[in-house]
Amino acid sequence: MADPLPFVDLQAQRRRLGDALNRAIAEAVESGQWILGPQVSALEASLAAFAGVKHAVACANGTDALLLILRAWNIGPGDAVFVPSFTFAATGEVVALAGATPVFVDVLADTFNMSAASLEEAITTIRRKGELKAKAVIPVDLFGQPADYRKLEPIVEREGLLMLCDAAQSFGAILDGRRTGSIGHAAATSFFPAKPLGCYGDGGACFTNDGGLADILRSLRMHGQGADRYEHPRIGMNSRLDTIQAAILSEKLKIFPDEIVQRERIARRYNARLASNRIRTPSVIEGAQSVWAQYTIQVDNKTKLQSDLKDAGIPTAVYYPIPLGRQAAYAGFPSAPTPNSDALSRSVVSLPMHPYLDEATQDRIIGAVLTSVG
Ligand SMILES: Cc1ncc(COP(=O)(O)O)c(C=O)c1O
Repeated sequence: MADPLPFVDLQAQRRRLGDALNRAIAEAVESGQWILGPQVSALEASLAAFAGVKHAVACANGTDALLLILRAWNIGPGDAVFVPSFTFAATGEVVALAGATPVFVDVLADTFNMSAASLEEAITTIRRKGELKAKAVIPVDLFGQPADYRKLEPIVEREGLLMLCDAAQSFGAILDGRRTGSIGHAAATSFFPAKPLGCYGDGGACFTNDGGLADILRSLRMHGQGADRYEHPRIGMNSRLDTIQAAILSEKLKIFPDEIVQRERIARRYNARLASNRIRTPSVIEGAQSVWAQYTIQVDNKTKLQSDLKDAGIPTAVYYPIPLGRQAAYAGFPSAPTPNSDALSRSVVSLPMHPYLDEATQDRIIGAVLTSVG
């Protein structure tokens, strides 16, 4: 059997960054300001400039970034927050942690992102029942592609809702010239190592153009701290980004635009060679640039494909085998009908995807997929 491949080759990026990264880490360690040190504020400024948004507030991880925003908006018991059913657990988890009710909405079969029609249906149902107050929407930019905000934004506006964009998988992506982070009333991202922009541990950030909200987020991430360190006007959390992670992210951000170009090139090559009547390749909406956090195809027999690729030393992953609204922990929450989420959970398979996938390796993956699917 040929050598097994990594699903995401972070060591290739590590080799590229070499000494610059070592120096940045050493400086952060030497500085002695290990929590929220100056590298964190510098990173926040760079992230905000990159995303085209006024404020970036770094925190401990992407889940906290979402939760901090919900808490800053005072979303809690009696509030309905609409989330897609086809997403990672964190999107719904934070709503429940805030004490509010996640309401599951279906996604589109081709882009895997929130369906505007299903959102409208869910809002109507919640309003008709009258038990919960429709408060916010959390669209997810799944697998790196911005959700269809052209359709979602008018609904959010008309219904007077808040929109928190879960950009955990899409930091760096663009829709109609706007980068994720700048879309929505606020956005959250994750710097988990395997994310398009990842650190060497956990990390996350909140984004907003609302200065008042940014101030509250800075307070909430530091135990609800007020003007003085031991004054607490609100109940907060401990959710700070380590200085060392900020130093790492600042180095990685320098090569990130080039990595996005490489990701796009690799995705196009996959598309060109894999698209067939037996393999459904991912579609990106017009005007959007994905950062390809995942390259996800749909096939009839995903179990066979995964097992054949495993035998050929090629790792795959299924994101997500059970829609969130169907998970035991979330089964008691309201949900719109989710036929697309249900179908996708049976057909999706993600292939190795990262900016350092060379053509020979990619050809090996493509060849193995085509051989398996026939
Ligand atoms: C869609 C989505 N939301 C939220 C998160 C949470 O991010 P983190 O793992 O940094 O808490 C993730 C990452 O795993 C994610 O994929």
